[in-house]
Amino acid sequence: MRITTTPSHPHPRAWAEPYKIKMVELLTMSTREDREIAIHKAGYNTFLLKSRDVFIDLLTDSGTSAMSDRQWAGMMRGDESYAGSDNFYHLEKAVQDFYGYKYIVPTHQGRGAEHILSRIMIKPGDIIPGNMYFTTTKLHQELAGGQFADIIIDEAHDPENEHPFKGNVDLNKMDALIKKYGARKIPYVCIATAVNMAGGQPISLQNLRELRDLTQKHGIPIIHDMTRVAENAYFIREREKGYQNVSTAAIVKEICSLTDGATMSAKKDPMVNIGGFLALNDEDIFDQARNMVVIYEGLHTYGGMAGRDMEALAIGIAESVDEDHIHARVGQVQYLGDHLLAKGIPIVRPIGGHGVFLDAKRFLPHLTQKVFPSQTLAAEIYLDSGVRTMERGAVSAGRNPETGQNNYPELELVRVTIPRRVYTQAHMDVVAESIEEVYSKRDKIRGLQMTYEPKHLRFFQARFQRIP
Ligand code: F0G
Repeated sequence: MRITTTPSHPHPRAWAEPYKIKMVELLTMSTREDREIAIHKAGYNTFLLKSRDVFIDLLTDSGTSAMSDRQWAGMMRGDESYAGSDNFYHLEKAVQDFYGYKYIVPTHQGRGAEHILSRIMIKPGDIIPGNMYFTTTKLHQELAGGQFADIIIDEAHDPENEHPFKGNVDLNKMDALIKKYGARKIPYVCIATAVNMAGGQPISLQNLRELRDLTQKHGIPIIHDMTRVAENAYFIREREKGYQNVSTAAIVKEICSLTDGATMSAKKDPMVNIGGFLALNDEDIFDQARNMVVIYEGLHTYGGMAGRDMEALAIGIAESVDEDHIHARVGQVQYLGDHLLAKGIPIVRPIGGHGVFLDAKRFLPHLTQKVFPSQTLAAEIYLDSGVRTMERGAVSAGRNPETGQNNYPELELVRVTIPRRVYTQAHMDVVAESIEEVYSKRDKIRGLQMTYEPKHLRFFQARFQRIP
């Protein structure tokens, strides 16, 4: 038995969650009949369920993590001044110390930072390459008149491919974009760490360095979507040659050093319930962002966050790169994924950092993407056990803004997302059992049709009904 902070634990039970529970939130159990009513009322969209109707909530890891006693103590030290709050300076220092970026503009959450960045940097007709899209990121690029271009390696679109760094960029795709459009039309490249839509898959430092060499030659900056950078760093430590003895904190800093700025949804890695920021090294862009944040978010020393939120965030940044924390966090996701794999359930491999992604195309091979297999599967899992997951497939992919046609992405997934420090191993066992149960009855599952479609980010509010 070894209880250490080393990343490779030979025995699966040689470690436990590095915290103990001080306060609990009671959960409600429901019957199948209750859930039939609830999901019908919710238009078969798990985003429209009331959380009181949910038993284990694996909708998202965003804003749902458990804060530590230190973070809660920090909340009591909130300096709720309109301008120049102490907590802002603590946050600024944490961003500088842990990530190495020079300037920070706080925002209410990640999309606030994306909005400001897109407005400043994108001109109509611009192309913004990225290692797979994220819903809000891409929408803000489009609203600013730009167009997203996917430059992730092809392996990322194949759920069965075991590539250890499926978040990597295909440099040939990047080069081809530069040749086709010219560097002037590319205001920046958006690089996500632990790529959400690919299944929480990491980018390697080697790939990021190669991309840096290429983009620097053309004067194109790299903006880092650093929402899950610690999880990415953990995978680098586990998988990339030469990093086994480098700390997660040092790897995080090295990743950031290869980029020019970042957008952060602080509701993920740094474990706060609300918050985010835009981080920059360029003083001129920072000046513009600091001016613009006043219009859309709040003064530049709070940007939509309360003082206490900024304090909790500053503390959470330090906790997010703690070795014991990150090992247990990713370890819990692996535990669930390994159980599902052992039962032959089709999931995206390798198992990602923030959740297990069910491959709905292989789970429900009799359903075409026109009847939304992932949406259907998420509803069925909820019906079985009250476990709430979410769709990441054709509904999330939306429509092509030019043709108005539905996008049908290669990856048709259900995300089983694990909040940080919230659920126990017993919860993971229940989730695995429920997914197995649904899998055993998969032949009887029919698809859904959409009855209401909102214009933007339709997956949040779309409604469906069962196909008779
Ligand atoms: N970038 C990534 C990679 C994200 O996962 C998210 C949010 C955002 C940006 C936007 O940040 O929500 O704070 O405005 N992802 C959540 C999720 C919603 O469930 O994956 P936000």
